[in-house]
Amino acid sequence: MTSTVFTPLTLPNGQELINRIAKAAMEENMGDAQLLPDAALTHLYRRWGQGGSGLIITGNVMVDRLAMTGPGGLALEAQTPLAPFIALAKAAKEQGAKIWMQINHPGRQVYAALGGKALSASAVAVDLGKHSHLFARPQAMTAAEIEDVISRFVTTAQRAEQAGFDGVEIHAAHGYLLSQFLSPLTNQRTDEWGGSLENRARLLLEITRRIRAAVKPEFAVAVKLNSADFQRGGFDIADAKAVVTLLNDLHVDAIEISGGSYEAPAMQGRTADGRTLAREAYFLEFAAQIAAVANMPVMSTGGITRLHTAEQVVNAGVALVGMASALAVCPDLPQRWQQNPAFELPLARIEWKDKAIASVATMALIKRHLRRWGNGAKKETVLNPLLSLILDRVRLKKLIKRYRKLIGA
Ligand SMILES: Cc1cc2nc3c(=O)[nH]c(=O)nc-3n(C[C@H](O)[C@H](O)[C@H](O)COP(=O)(O)O)c2cc1C
Repeated sequence: MTSTVFTPLTLPNGQELINRIAKAAMEENMGDAQLLPDAALTHLYRRWGQGGSGLIITGNVMVDRLAMTGPGGLALEAQTPLAPFIALAKAAKEQGAKIWMQINHPGRQVYAALGGKALSASAVAVDLGKHSHLFARPQAMTAAEIEDVISRFVTTAQRAEQAGFDGVEIHAAHGYLLSQFLSPLTNQRTDEWGGSLENRARLLLEITRRIRAAVKPEFAVAVKLNSADFQRGGFDIADAKAVVTLLNDLHVDAIEISGGSYEAPAMQGRTADGRTLAREAYFLEFAAQIAAVANMPVMSTGGITRLHTAEQVVNAGVALVGMASALAVCPDLPQRWQQNPAFELPLARIEWKDKAIASVATMALIKRHLRRWGNGAKKETVLNPLLSLILDRVRLKKLIKRYRKLIGA
C-alpha cells in the first residue's frame, strides 16, 4: 500500500506517529517573566493537539537563560521548575499526538538590546546591512564554553524527558549556534571544532551522541538541519548530505530539512545567493536528495499549506510533512483536510521592498495568530501585517525590559 499524509509512521526507536503531519517549531514569545510556559501557551498546545497533527514540535527552548533567541522565550535548565513544562506536554498529548521539545542556543543571533551572552564559533557578527546594529557582536568560544554548551543541551534533553515530552529536536538550522559551527562563513576556527566538515560538524555530533546516551531508547532524538545557507560560500547541500551520513550511525529518529538564517531567510522562501526556491514546499528537492542517503525518516518544512503539496512531499519519498505558518493560522488544518481535501487557507506572503522588514513582519503576523489561539480564539481569521508589526514592536520592547531586569543587565 502506498503511504499518504494520513498513514501512520513508526520511527527507528519504535515511536509511532498517528500521521505524517508535523507542527514545525515556532518561537511564540509567550513565555512568562521566569521564561516558563504559562496557561495561554499551554492552551495553544492543547489546540494543536486537538487539531490532528501526528507530531508537535515546540518552539525553540533555550539551553541557557543567558542566551535567548528572543524576549518572551523559554529556557529549561538544571534548576528550572518542571511543572509548567509537564502541563504543556500533557495538554499537547491529550488526543494522541507526540510532542518533541526543540532545544536551541542562539550563538551570535542575539539582539543587542536583550543583553546576555553572544557566543559563536568565531567572532563574526550578523551582517544585515543597515540593520546589523540590532545584533550583538559575538566572541569566539573557548574550549570550556564549548563543553558547557554540550552539557547544557544534554541537561535540557534529560529534563524534557522527565517532563513527559516524547523527544527532542536539536536545532542545527537557521543560523543559530550549531549552524554557525557548521557554516564555513561563520566558523573560521583552526582547532578541532573548525576547518574540515567533520570538524565543523563535531559540536552537533557530540551533542547528539551525548543526548542519545543520556535518554531512554524510546525517547526520540531528532535534528533540524539546513539544506543550505543560501549564501555564497556557505554550508551547502553536499555538506548537508555529508552531515546526515555522519548522523546515520547515531540512532537519530528524524532529520528535518529547512534552510537559511537571519542573513538569508530561505525558510520564508527568500535566498541571498540568487537561487530561486520552489513556490511551494521550498526544500522538497533537497529533502528528497537527503532522504536518499539518510537511514532515518526525513521531514521537509517550508512553504506547505495545501494537501496537494503535502502529498507531493510524501510521494517524493520524504516521510514527514512539516508545517509552521499554516498550523499557526489554522491549528486543526489536518482535520479540515480530512473533511475537505480542497480546503485552502487565507495565507498570503508579505511582499515588501525591504526584505528584512518583510521577514520581521511575517514573524510578527504569525505570532499574533499564536497569541489569538492561546487566548481562546475559536475560528481562524485574517490579520493585517502592518498592524501586527507595530503591535509586535511595542510588545517586544516591554518583554526586553522584563528580561533585562530578570538577568540584571
Ligand atoms: C513565528 C515563527 C517562529 C519560528 N520559530 C522557529 C523556531 O523556534 N525554531 C525553528 O526551527 N524554526 C522556527 N521557525 C521556522 C519554522 O519552523 C519553519 O521552518 C518556517 O516557518 C517555514 O515553514 P512554513 O512555510 O510552514 O511556515 C519559525 C517560524 C515562524 C513563522
